[in-house]
Amino acid sequence: MPVPLHAIAYVSSATHLLDSGELEQLLADAREFNVTQGVTGVLLYVDGCFMQCIEGPMEGVARVYQRIKEASRHRGLIELLNQPVKRRAFPDWHMGCGSNAQSEMINDATESWERMLSSAREVDESVPGLLLLRAFWKESRVARTKRVMAKA
Ligand SMILES: Cc1cc2nc3c(=O)[nH]c(=O)nc-3n(C[C@H](O)[C@H](O)[C@H](O)COP(=O)(O)O)c2cc1C
Repeated sequence: MPVPLHAIAYVSSATHLLDSGELEQLLADAREFNVTQGVTGVLLYVDGCFMQCIEGPMEGVARVYQRIKEASRHRGLIELLNQPVKRRAFPDWHMGCGSNAQSEMINDATESWERMLSSAREVDESVPGLLLLRAFWKESRVARTKRVMAKA
């Protein structure tokens, strides 16, 4: 019998604009713990806002979520999704950063997330977390393009 899977997604606000060093530390710390729990997902950071989806076995997801809720670098967490899912939307752990982070590691991670997004075959109700993150990422791209055009 395959292990039942659970997914949680939320948005929150950073307590301050994080620099690339802090983001790198967050990514490494999250990845290290998530692996031990069999949890995969994506963390997006755009203009001081986070959106994250985590998925995996119920207990692992609950442990990771506890750490997320206790973290002091964000506040105002709003839960968007907390439900069983039929399959994983994210085979691995990804991070996407909305602005050019001046960090090779973050920029590489963002490119890898965008590749994953464009290669996702079926994006439907069976992967609700991916639907949410895709919408958030597309919206932030539109906002950024508008800002660049307004400056030109
Ligand atoms: C936006 C955000 C996302 C996080 N995502 C994860 C995660 O996926 N897995 C994890 O184990 N910890 C996660 N954490 C917790 C951090 O890895 C770390 O434990 C926490 O930031 C402790 O430091 P702090 O209290 O100074 O923020 C997250 C924290 C924040 C702010």
